[in-house]
Amino acid sequence: MIQIAVLGYGTVGSGVVEVINTNHELINKKIGEEIQVKYVLDLRDFPEDPIQEKIVHDFQVILQDPEVKIVVEVMGGTEPAYTFVKQALEQGKSVCTSNKELVAKHGVELLEIARQKNINFLFEASCGGGIPIIRPLNTSLTADEIEEITGILNGTTNYILSKMAADGSDLEVVLKEAQEKGYAERNPSADVDGWDACRKIAILSSIAFGHHVDYQDIYTEGIMKITSTDIRYAKAWGANIKLLASCRKVENQYYAMVTPVMINSNSPLYSVNEVYNGILVHGNVLGDTMFYGSGAGKLPTASAVVSDVIDAAKHQDTNVMSGWSSQKLELGKISDLENRFFVRMSGSFTENLSRVEEVFGQVDAKVLAEVNGEFGFITEKMKEAEYLEKAAEFNNILGMIRVRF
Ligand code: HSE
Repeated sequence: MIQIAVLGYGTVGSGVVEVINTNHELINKKIGEEIQVKYVLDLRDFPEDPIQEKIVHDFQVILQDPEVKIVVEVMGGTEPAYTFVKQALEQGKSVCTSNKELVAKHGVELLEIARQKNINFLFEASCGGGIPIIRPLNTSLTADEIEEITGILNGTTNYILSKMAADGSDLEVVLKEAQEKGYAERNPSADVDGWDACRKIAILSSIAFGHHVDYQDIYTEGIMKITSTDIRYAKAWGANIKLLASCRKVENQYYAMVTPVMINSNSPLYSVNEVYNGILVHGNVLGDTMFYGSGAGKLPTASAVVSDVIDAAKHQDTNVMSGWSSQKLELGKISDLENRFFVRMSGSFTENLSRVEEVFGQVDAKVLAEVNGEFGFITEKMKEAEYLEKAAEFNNILGMIRVRF
């Protein structure tokens, strides 16, 4: 019998219990032993729920019980999650978590404790919800040098951008609707300002590159500046605007960023819509591989957490997760990265075009019949620093979005 404890009976925690109940026989068979939830830690009581008999309010009960071999942390936030997880690992209990803030901030240290204790700290659900990505990076793509990961890693913003594209609505309207439907948090900043995607790409790039990528070093822009007019222009180029989180190695220098990007149907990420996530990984020998699925939600996330529980149960005295070294990876400045740039400029197209071409060189320009007093153009590829230098010569630029096609 393998006894586990679940920290937090919120959306994901109750999902973990549900997945274990629904697939109990199948999970037991996979582990080769029966699994049982012995405790659920929560501040609240659930008198109407059979889970109540397992509820404890004091973490020490779990920590001091030698029968508990695996702790599932699904409370979110860094405290008290960090303290509890660290104590559990130091006590020789494997930990499975969905908590990207915890992994991005303390992953190096927690992985090292697990390695020293010959147990496991696993976090499949921290990136891409139910999509398998951590385990493939850790075990399947090991023959490759990973040169790039680009992903739609946030379901909330992808839902908002997809809805704006489908309905032509403004961001504020769609955001409000998403909040009413429960897709977006009441305080949506972590999602719409890009911080959630930033932590996820910090985790993925740390695993892919083997060194610690500090999420605070990652250049991050959210979607709040994207307007329905931007999306109209994107459509005129047969493109979509997506919030992309990416890391890449270019000539021995590593870069990571989170920004809205215009992509067209040549990109496999173009058709990743609604709350779905998609992650494109490029290896030096494999080429491209793509991971797609439910990036959030109770059962998809719980499915990934329980897959970690099964892994931890099957490897009780073996550390399976190769960590990333504590040595920090110094990221290159994004001003050195090459992109094309979509620019909106106020004023008349005919009066401005020659000056635009004089400064930017050849551009692909469009005037939209339904948008008055401005036009848009896409530059050729250039370094971001060069773009900024050229853009500074104009005082009528309304906005810029990076383009990858
Ligand atoms: N807020 C996150 C999202 C939840 O929208 O993707 C999953 O990490």
